[in-house]
Amino acid sequence: MADDLMIAVKPEIAEHARVTAAQREAMVAEATADPDAFWAKEAQRIAWMQAPSIIKNTSFTGDVSIKWFEDGVLNASVSCLDRHLATRGDQVAILWEGDDPSTDAKVTYRQLHERVCKLANAMRGMGVAKGDRVCIYMPMIVEAAVAMLACARVGAVHSIVFGGFSPDSLASRIQDSECVMLITADEGRRGGRKVPLKANADEALKACPSISNVIVAKNTGGAVAMQAGRDHWWADACDAQPAECAPEPMNAEDPLFILYTSGSTGKPKGVLHTTGGYMVWASFTHENVFDYRPGEMYWCTADVGWVTGHTYIVYGPLANGATTLMFEGVPSWPDNGRFWQVVAKHKVNIFYTAPTAIRALMRDGEGPVKKHDRSSLRILGSVGEPINPEAWLWYYRVVGDERCPIVDTWWQTETGGILISPLPGAVGQKPGSATLPLPGVLPALVDNEGTLLEGATEGNLVILDSWPGQMRTVYGDHERFIQTYFSTFPGKYFTGDGARRDADGYWWITGRVDDVINVAGHRMGTAEVESALVAHASVAEAAVVGMPHDIKGQGIYAYVTLIAGVEPTDALRKELVAWVRKEIGPIATPDAIQWAPGLPKTRSGKIMRRILRKIAANETEGLGDTSTLADPSVVTDLIDNRVG
Ligand code: PRX
Repeated sequence: MADDLMIAVKPEIAEHARVTAAQREAMVAEATADPDAFWAKEAQRIAWMQAPSIIKNTSFTGDVSIKWFEDGVLNASVSCLDRHLATRGDQVAILWEGDDPSTDAKVTYRQLHERVCKLANAMRGMGVAKGDRVCIYMPMIVEAAVAMLACARVGAVHSIVFGGFSPDSLASRIQDSECVMLITADEGRRGGRKVPLKANADEALKACPSISNVIVAKNTGGAVAMQAGRDHWWADACDAQPAECAPEPMNAEDPLFILYTSGSTGKPKGVLHTTGGYMVWASFTHENVFDYRPGEMYWCTADVGWVTGHTYIVYGPLANGATTLMFEGVPSWPDNGRFWQVVAKHKVNIFYTAPTAIRALMRDGEGPVKKHDRSSLRILGSVGEPINPEAWLWYYRVVGDERCPIVDTWWQTETGGILISPLPGAVGQKPGSATLPLPGVLPALVDNEGTLLEGATEGNLVILDSWPGQMRTVYGDHERFIQTYFSTFPGKYFTGDGARRDADGYWWITGRVDDVINVAGHRMGTAEVESALVAHASVAEAAVVGMPHDIKGQGIYAYVTLIAGVEPTDALRKELVAWVRKEIGPIATPDAIQWAPGLPKTRSGKIMRRILRKIAANETEGLGDTSTLADPSVVTDLIDNRVG
């Protein structure tokens, strides 16, 4: 491992850094010794209608209760909009770059405020009130951010569903949180293709009686069906509304949003974030991790359908008064120089993307990167999955010309924002390591019995105490929240990740230790793919595991047992791939399907996934003990018929 390759903070970066090494030390010391004092001070970075006097009130035991700033009152949209009007009303808040390279748009803070207020008024007019859930199923257009902030304005809880999800996935998320309104667009655009969002929504809504109004943004102008009484064009609903809208006073612990994410078992769960702590965390981490300075052009390439888009396209940058670039397209279209063309076009200073994109672009060599001027870049970021040292070094050398520090940011939907990452002016980097925790974050390693491990070692990654951005519950199922995160290692938050800590105390995330796989930075529960497969009439049983994949990090490998009498054919394999895409969405496309006459099971009927993971990874030498299997011969058959 590249433990020894330490890239020290360059003097020219340390000199102007928001946080120097000494300041970081002081922050860590204060946040640990006196969290109340530290976070009371940091809370002042956002706008309060009533400042909090109670700061931290959290417990990881018993019923697990997490409250921050609990007597504070605020509205998230005010921190992101109103308070900037006097100082930077005419500054660009959102710079939108279209899928088609000839399209872009600038929206100032004043314009964004007006658009949010108009939509918020329209929503109130349709009866949306504080606490109601509103689903957002949108492409990467400015209206997506407007919709989020308008929900926040009226106190509605948004639940964004990624535009790549299928009608079924959309429907089950709407049903789980009983959304009253859906905000969508006619169609999305990605890589020159159209995504039929409204048509998907119509399909989903057949099973969603809780939705009484749908607001549809006109994006491509493609023909869509509009249901009278239910569906409203955005412009018709908003244009005549007043340009001011009183923000709903929200308690710090009132919900801001729900975001569904995959776990080891069952359906995706609704991760619930509340208002005060989340906003403080979004602002604190965005400013310090990206060393953000006023006036900079900041670009996070994520989609607002994922948590990265929530915290680092919308809430964090807008709370900090930044110009946030919102990109509708993909890195490979019209060609694989697109990211760098956009960097040059808009003089991007801070660039934040995923390792899977870096690895895909690396394949094409330096040419497409070098063609474009990247001299504006100052900080590079990585998120979503472990970044392998080769990709890290390519990003550093080729994209950043060895000038720009890389912040490898480890976090999760559940954590609300970044927990482990270098602060670029304070922490030297090691390629492949997320380096050190942020002030106030207390990671630890435990073995499978829950014993704390000291020193340089590897184990399960837990967090010992709460931070303001932490999720508060699973929507509608607090028991599942306790079970999922606090029961494996009682009294500690279990991340589901494994990690290694080296002799310098640096953290290296090794990947999930549960049945979650990470495909191109997208989190997927193996159980979800399995239940999609067994829903097909020809499938008797299915077991899904992750397999190593050069570009995507992990691919989806499915073992499928057909019902008796069904012939395993190539046509059926294709049909099953298409089936899963239709059931969940293209991100769940299986990379390999192996016909499995039998699955390796213990005598009590439990599938031994450890063996299936090894076969998928072609590591069939060290399968370990197979003597406890009900029928050891199935393993031989699986090895002989491995796909790929
Ligand atoms: O396994 C870790 C991986 O992504 C998981 C969280 O996925 P999600 O909730 O979809 O959030 C993604 C964006 C924050 C984690 O449990 N992960 C995320 N960032 C990193 C990472 N693994 C290694 N290094 C990272 N920087």
